Amino acid sequence: MNFLITGAGGQVGQELQRLLPQANALTHSQLDIGDISAVRNAVQAFKPHAIINAAAYTAVDKAEEEVEKAYLINHIGAKNLAIASEEQNAILLHISTDYVFDGKKTEPYSETDASNPQSVYGKSKLLGEEAVLQHCEKAMILRTAWVFGRYGKNFVKTMLSLGKTRRHLRIVADQFGSPTEAQDIANALICMAKNPQFGIYHYSGMPYVSWFEFAQKIFQAAHKQGILHAPQLEAISSEEYPTQACRPKNSRLNLNKINNAFGIEACDWQQHLQDLRKYL
Ligand SMILES: NC(=O)c1ccc[n+]([C@@H]2O[C@H](COP(=O)([O-])OP(=O)(O)OC[C@H]3O[C@@H](n4cnc5c(N)ncnc54)[C@H](OP(=O)(O)O)[C@@H]3O)[C@@H](O)[C@H]2O)c1
Repeated sequence: MNFLITGAGGQVGQELQRLLPQANALTHSQLDIGDISAVRNAVQAFKPHAIINAAAYTAVDKAEEEVEKAYLINHIGAKNLAIASEEQNAILLHISTDYVFDGKKTEPYSETDASNPQSVYGKSKLLGEEAVLQHCEKAMILRTAWVFGRYGKNFVKTMLSLGKTRRHLRIVADQFGSPTEAQDIANALICMAKNPQFGIYHYSGMPYVSWFEFAQKIFQAAHKQGILHAPQLEAISSEEYPTQACRPKNSRLNLNKINNAFGIEACDWQQHLQDLRKYL
């Protein structure tokens, strides 16, 4: 299968490159998905069977200021890829986010639940989803959450870095979600590409936790592996840690649909913490 990966320099993009070494993988500097001509040229040149879009504007707080940029990449960029995929009759696999929900539901979110994003990032990603479904018949959208991995910036790396110098850390304990390893997302996307069933799917790691519980697990593992002495952790509320963007308190995803369609099961994110050195 001939794959084209966009946003190949990101957390998920780099894992996709590792798992699909034969794929045509284009980083931001090699292809700007906001540029329709460039997208068309790349798709016509590589003639992929499947395009995996790992490109996105992911700076959730900064998006509240860089509104236009966030929409250009997350909405128009996704639309451009959908148009070019349709013209090429290629499958499009696009990644979206738990932040399309407002977090007010008390149970994990299913694909049929109403979206109601509370941030510019979430709104721009939702418009991207809608454009993908409108412009490309053979599209699959994978909504995921709390991504971490060996490449790029993420919560695990931030905790390990802060843990080196800080004796005390305050961590939000009233937002619940599911940490998801970038490699597991890449594996899920490849599995979906090989047996396409179009539509929106939820995928994340398990078990569900708060950011505070996630940090506890990271530092317990780091201490056990002799990487650092765990700092003292203080559980705080979202109100005690104001951010520019509003984040959902519940962004737990229900994985029944992806499991029934593809047999894809959640990976236990705690397994990845057993070798923390890869995140240093
Ligand atoms: N990170 C999370 O916690 C999280 C949670 C839920 C869903 N997601 C979704 O998962 C997907 C992958 O996220 P990630 O964490 O791998 O993101 P990431 O590490 O921020 O990678 C995104 C990549 O997209 C590239 N990019 C930005 N603008 C572009 C453009 N106009 N054209 C082409 N490439 C562009 C970036 O390059 P530069 O850095 O050079 O700009 C970067 O390499 C995204 O769709 C994201 O919305 C992420």
